Amino acid sequence: MMISKIKLTIICTILALAGIAQTRKQSMRQLADDNLRFAAEQYKYLMKDLPPDVMPRTYNDSSKHLITSKTSWWCSGFYPGTLWLLYKATKDEALKAEAEKRLGILEKEKLNTGTHDLGFMIFCSFGNAYKITGDQHYKDVIFTAAASLSTRYRPSIASIQSWNKNSNFNCPVIIDNMMNLELLEWVAKNGGDQKFNEIAVNHANTTIKNHYRPDYSSYHVVDYDLETGKIIKKATHQGYADESAWARGQAWGLYGFTLMYRFTKDAAYLSQATHIADFLLNHPNLPADKIPYWDFNAPDIPNARRDASAGAIMASALLELSRYTDSKKSRIYKNAAEVMLRSLSSPAYRAKLGTNGGFILEHNVGHFPNHSEIDVPLTYADYYFVEALCRYKEWFIKDRG
Ligand code: GLY
Repeated sequence: MMISKIKLTIICTILALAGIAQTRKQSMRQLADDNLRFAAEQYKYLMKDLPPDVMPRTYNDSSKHLITSKTSWWCSGFYPGTLWLLYKATKDEALKAEAEKRLGILEKEKLNTGTHDLGFMIFCSFGNAYKITGDQHYKDVIFTAAASLSTRYRPSIASIQSWNKNSNFNCPVIIDNMMNLELLEWVAKNGGDQKFNEIAVNHANTTIKNHYRPDYSSYHVVDYDLETGKIIKKATHQGYADESAWARGQAWGLYGFTLMYRFTKDAAYLSQATHIADFLLNHPNLPADKIPYWDFNAPDIPNARRDASAGAIMASALLELSRYTDSKKSRIYKNAAEVMLRSLSSPAYRAKLGTNGGFILEHNVGHFPNHSEIDVPLTYADYYFVEALCRYKEWFIKDRG
């Protein structure tokens, strides 16, 4: 009698836990579905008044003015990329038609050797287009872009040069550049020249050596002397201070080393990514909703602006990282990403339908020290939010139906 009572208790506990897990899972599924449906409607609103020859950039809520950019702007791939992701999620042909139209104006950038951002521009857009449609032309565009990006590789510093020489920097390499390695690695893995893998690996190894501090926070910019290969200075451009942890830069690094592990299976990259994740998630200045302030060392915390884009990038990266780590860390990273996605889905960050110029998220910070794009919608925040929702559905929800 006693044994059967214990048995019953155990069975009830297991069922209750399973029920909780199921409810949680269902509610995350519902959250992902609701947000993807919302995002598709919102982007159909955004596309209505968008001129044919430009990309959306942000929205000025005071003047109710949509701000656009040329395709040479580093963010030009995010809008078409988001459209492709939303098309995949909803099968709404209007989104596909708009995505194809935007690829038409973006394609010329495959030959742009004046920027290190071709990964963002071409892989987020044409990369998703190819994965969804299998159209060979998109693959050709991606291959051409990888060749263009590789012209910025500088053997003397074993890195890809980010910006061109300017009044502040000689040969700057910024942490953001880790994101562009996906383009090179993908091409190397899909029939392209292996030199693209060598460039990406060299760049990532140099970044570990020179960009990271002992606590696994990253400098924004490392400036090099191309002749001697020596470091001139370590500094910031978009962060609060040279020694601070600019939130989006930390997010780029987290995502970048996670993707390098995906392609190479080199344990050094996994270790780097987990150390970065632990630095971020254990940081005393990470708020309870896990959406970071624009800089982890902003002087006016807790009144500093949040950067939802950093939260969206981190969420997407943590979901991937959780697939590569042991069960304890995996749970921590997935749970943190869930908190971030729940926060971003809440009215605290997500716009209402038909507002915000058609962008999905509010409260992003582009370039605080430059007084530019502060507390506004931005295309990359939307892109990584949608990517994270799609990843969640694909990787963690069994019946995706
Ligand atoms: N790559 C520029 C930025 O993250 O703002």
